[in-house]
Amino acid sequence: MPAATALAHPNIALCKYWGKRDRALNLPSVPSISLTLSPFSTRTTVEWGVATDELIMNGGPASADEARKVFAVLDLVDSWRPRARVVTANDFPTAAGLASSSSGFAALVLAATAAAGQKPSAEQLSILARRGSGSAARSIFGGWVEWRAGERPDGMDSHAWEIQPVDWWDVRMVVAIFDGGPKSISSREGMKRTQETSPYYPAWVASAPLDVSEARAAIRSRDIEKLGAIMERSALRMHASMMAADPPVLYWKSGSVWAQETVTSLRKKGIPCAWTMDAGPNVKVLCEAGSAAEVAARLGAVADRVQVLVPGGPARLVNGPA
Ligand code: DP6
Repeated sequence: MPAATALAHPNIALCKYWGKRDRALNLPSVPSISLTLSPFSTRTTVEWGVATDELIMNGGPASADEARKVFAVLDLVDSWRPRARVVTANDFPTAAGLASSSSGFAALVLAATAAAGQKPSAEQLSILARRGSGSAARSIFGGWVEWRAGERPDGMDSHAWEIQPVDWWDVRMVVAIFDGGPKSISSREGMKRTQETSPYYPAWVASAPLDVSEARAAIRSRDIEKLGAIMERSALRMHASMMAADPPVLYWKSGSVWAQETVTSLRKKGIPCAWTMDAGPNVKVLCEAGSAAEVAARLGAVADRVQVLVPGGPARLVNGPA
């Protein structure tokens, strides 16, 4: 049976994606920018032509909901496809504070197309990955990545591209992890509710393109202070839009605010760094490599755990099963 295995890294958005202009095609209302991050990765094997569709996730059978999303993406790879066996595993704990859907769907579409003998471009892979999860469109590429919102109704211009490669700038992403608490609302649900009920949602959509063009320029000139200011502005505006939803979407915990204040005090001490947050309480702090040890030590005093990540490369085919 034809099979292939691919590996992809997760990414964290510096300018956020929040809201969709087309739910069926998973087209975003705003452009976004991210950094692909190593060493964590998802490894996925797709084998075509088996007796029945099967999804094995982290060593066990996946939920019906997860399987439905994965096989819907395989239907896009080949609408007359044979049945497939998909085995996927993350080498990072689900509670590591990183979205596994970004690396998961990027690895899935690369393995699935390779096993089918297709040779899609990186842009075509990004479009396919986007259909599984928006942030996955960015994990096809390594380093500093932009995802264009696009204008076409069919979404064929809504894919990611590489602004600068993985070795462009020696930075670190220090993740301050806060355990516990009930599982909060998914990003998909949270953005739907924001879009449908928040009076601040139109202002968020209107402000995002300028953040992206300024952040792109700051990355190209390796200006950590400029990039940091845009990062925090983008995260705060996204979270402000969701906090104003009805009922509110609030991912922050008290520890999240302590971590933000720690970042502000590090900056006052002359250490350039900036935070961002996604659909959860963890705080992700960007800094240059030389300051990572001090940033991690200071965040370690307020967080349950700290993880230091480095820029990662693009999704790639690898040998051996997942
Ligand atoms: C807050 O990519 O998980 O992390 O497209 O519905 O699967 P779907 O959403 P998803 O949303 C990510 C939201 C975010 C910001 C970001 O990564 O840009």
